[in-house]
Amino acid sequence: MFEQLNPLSGDPILRLISLYREDTRADKIDVGVGVFRNAQGETPIMRAVREAEQRLHDSQTTKTYVGIAGDPVFDDAMIDLVFADSVDKQRIRAVQAPGGSGALRISADMLYKAAPNKTVWVSDPTWGNHTPIFEAAGFTVKTYPYLNTETKMVDEEKVIDALSKLGSDDIVLLHGCCHNPTGSDISKAGWDRITELAVERGFLPFIDLAYQGLGLGLEDDLYGTRKLAATVSDLVVTSSCSKNFGLYRDRVGCAMIIAKDSQAADITKGHLTVAARVAYSMPPDHGAAMVGIIMNDAGLRQMWIDELTEMRGRIVDLRQQLSAKMRDITGTQDWDFINDHRGMFSLLCLDKNQTDTLVNEHSIYIVGGGRINIAGLQNEAQVNRFAECLAAVTR
Ligand code: LMR
Repeated sequence: MFEQLNPLSGDPILRLISLYREDTRADKIDVGVGVFRNAQGETPIMRAVREAEQRLHDSQTTKTYVGIAGDPVFDDAMIDLVFADSVDKQRIRAVQAPGGSGALRISADMLYKAAPNKTVWVSDPTWGNHTPIFEAAGFTVKTYPYLNTETKMVDEEKVIDALSKLGSDDIVLLHGCCHNPTGSDISKAGWDRITELAVERGFLPFIDLAYQGLGLGLEDDLYGTRKLAATVSDLVVTSSCSKNFGLYRDRVGCAMIIAKDSQAADITKGHLTVAARVAYSMPPDHGAAMVGIIMNDAGLRQMWIDELTEMRGRIVDLRQQLSAKMRDITGTQDWDFINDHRGMFSLLCLDKNQTDTLVNEHSIYIVGGGRINIAGLQNEAQVNRFAECLAAVTR
């Protein structure tokens, strides 16, 4: 029966990883998949994670299941990290999940149970897995405009205009910070307006928070999330520890909901756990246990914050270097937007020919449309080579 399946081209980001691995050219550059890299091109295990892993190894006495909702120590730590004091904790519930994607999927399944006829709105463009996840849950997914392809920055007027036409039959997916793939984030004034619209129009805001701490900082990246949390009656937030704890392969994420009161929050959490039970039964423990240890030890927490600050600093430096180099080469300010973007990604708005040329002729691995992971540029030499090639294909 398998012959009835059509061949698929596969996920473009994952395909790029294998192409890069197979390329034997010495000067290859990987600005594809969104993983943080240091100046040696490595994705290191963070110092606090190493220490927490040792402590976990020394103290763990069993590998029996954690509950469906995961480790309460982790869940509470995530609630504190994301919401701080922005909202009454009685109204928040959290469910540990396998990565941000797992959190997205169980949240989508829960929402589909609650409101199968709602439409989910995602930004155009958005992360390639958002639409498939919501469609797999059963939803109709539509897009709202996001990027001004001239300025390469978010067109907030268009976003606001689109959202002001939505209503209580709609769910709006927003990127909490470090928009993937564009790198252009909504301003504080934009978040204020979106929050007003959520109340006026009655749509449900759903925030995907995959890069907390890699944009402006652990607190500043949460302006919009906390503004909405403090204001609306219902909110969904999915968070990932892949990037900010460097726990990619350990699959650590969290689905969090804010409901109108404690009773509604309990019921909603019940539906999230049923969705989890059906999808994977119990979440993996290891990575979440390490996050729980780090967040509950003042020394380890500070060690983690310090390293995250270094990572963010590297991203900001690379942005400055690349935009300055593009100014030198082109004699224009056309690429200054790279410095205004936040987080690991910038969408350069390249066409297929341009990205194919970068991959095939220059061994520069870049996602379709021209999304770059700026942290993939190891050092000044790579920044310069990348800039020369970019200028050449866009000339
Ligand atoms: C990315 O956007 O590159 C990351 O989120 C990795 C992925 O799973 O696509």
